[in-house]
Amino acid sequence: MADPITITLRVNTRVHNIGVEPRATLLHTLRELGHTDVKNGCEIGECGACAVLLNGEPVNSCMVLAVQADGATITTNAGLGTMEKPHLIQAAFADAGAVQCGFCTPGMVIATKALLDRNPNPSEHEIREALSGNLCRCTGYGQIVDGVKLAAKRLASSRQTGGASC
Ligand code: FES
Ligand code: FES
Repeated sequence: MADPITITLRVNTRVHNIGVEPRATLLHTLRELGHTDVKNGCEIGECGACAVLLNGEPVNSCMVLAVQADGATITTNAGLGTMEKPHLIQAAFADAGAVQCGFCTPGMVIATKALLDRNPNPSEHEIREALSGNLCRCTGYGQIVDGVKLAAKRLASSRQTGGASC
């Protein structure tokens, strides 16, 4: 077994200085650190359940080595909001019925955040394209698309009233 490499990860509000195996994925490392809202689905980059924002960009954390993320700022679904104080996107998903078993939800929320950051008023086609790397076995995707539309609508009105940004 190779010697561990010391890295620093800034995850949501926490800073971790840890030793990792050179081949450890960011997904496994995050989960071992307790960030279990990052879900382990396929581990081959196909389901999107493990999506996080890495320095603001969405990535599938199963496809990133932990050492590649050394020094990075990582945002997970739990870093956006909590049950008590949900993020606008999380609240919109709940209100639109976009959450059934919930396994895909953290990754869907991260993909939606990345979409609305670059395109606050996406068309349905753009929404479906942005979420095409995120699989859901429960909803048939209709309610998830509705959740993204609702989040975009609420984002637009909160911007008009000078409220919270996405
Ligand atoms: S677990 Fe990473 S894409 Fe499926
Ligand atoms: S809500 Fe169950 S996998 Fe999407």
